[in-house]
Amino acid sequence: MAEITCIEDLRRLARKRVPRMFYDYVDGGSWTEYTYRANEEDFGEIEFRQRVAVDITERSTASTMVGQPVSMPVAIAPTGLTGMQHADGEILAARAAQRFGIPFTLSTMSICPIEAVAEATGRHPFWFQLYVLRDRSFVEGLIERAGNANCSALVVTMDLQVFGQRHKDKKNGLSTPPRPTLRNLLNLASKPRWCWNMLGTRHRQFGNIVGHAKGVDNIGSLVEWTREQFDPRLSWQDIEWIRKRWGGKLIVKGIQEPEDARLAIDSGADAIVVSNHGGRQLDGASSSISTLPRIVEAVGHRVEVHMDGGIRSGQDVLKAIALGARGTYIGRAMMYGLGAMGEKGVSTALELIRNELDLSMAFCGKTDVRGVDRGILRMR
Ligand code: GLV
Repeated sequence: MAEITCIEDLRRLARKRVPRMFYDYVDGGSWTEYTYRANEEDFGEIEFRQRVAVDITERSTASTMVGQPVSMPVAIAPTGLTGMQHADGEILAARAAQRFGIPFTLSTMSICPIEAVAEATGRHPFWFQLYVLRDRSFVEGLIERAGNANCSALVVTMDLQVFGQRHKDKKNGLSTPPRPTLRNLLNLASKPRWCWNMLGTRHRQFGNIVGHAKGVDNIGSLVEWTREQFDPRLSWQDIEWIRKRWGGKLIVKGIQEPEDARLAIDSGADAIVVSNHGGRQLDGASSSISTLPRIVEAVGHRVEVHMDGGIRSGQDVLKAIALGARGTYIGRAMMYGLGAMGEKGVSTALELIRNELDLSMAFCGKTDVRGVDRGILRMR
């Protein structure tokens, strides 16, 4: 195997190793995929300003996110179906993040349940992403389970009460586990490594839901579940309701407009995440990196502003930090690493990002990521 030098190498390898429907679930956006593409492409519109003859011997990428130390300002984003990229995917990614010293965020729609991740990581604190469902007693139960599992932050997603159509998922008949159709069986037959690992785990369904939500002992599809269970009346009062029940840090994700950022903070958010859900929800929305400065200007003096969407390199992280983000999240970059090489692949993705962040910062004449500002950028 040729040497892996960038996230794109991991993506290519994941495409070979992960069953088609789960690979497509990751590498796709809603409708035309305009926003999915813009998230990546708009980073390319921003240039760095090189500085020379600055002593760059001692460098640090360490920072904090919501008051917690991080070895670089990058957290693992909550991603659904992580355990379908690779058996026990959530556990493997959580371990890689723990070793690396960055936060791992477990999705409500994970395959491995909260308790299994907590146990496998020695109860090292991770973050839990919460969807607000119609059944508030189930939501309350999830919050309690996150607390019992020692989670240190709750990330509440605001932008998925209805589902943006993703053509590929519809065409592929995405479900977990995959239905035994001829097309799926033929595709699985070409992924022996994935199948072998999958046979060795108990975790093959939505582990936080099945057996926990009342009357649910089988859900195969995220789309069906969303349609039935996600509450379209979600409001800022729900954030206040969650705030009362959750003593840890509260991060509100899915913010695109300054007005919503202010409302989130007034409702009790400790930090907000500028996000368009990786271009998977409202297609036609602006890219995250182009939205970030407006949000930082409006509320950056009140809370930490984080961002996700389109980050495929340490240079992207550096640009987001320079534009005022306190932290960033990687979803696909992690999923490609996981699909390509399991835990080692996630570690490789993190190493690649850190090295690029560190070196790019040095080229810009900076030695501490906490001292990076807009001065290192030239906007085209
Ligand atoms: C779920 O969060 C998804 O984007 O599929």
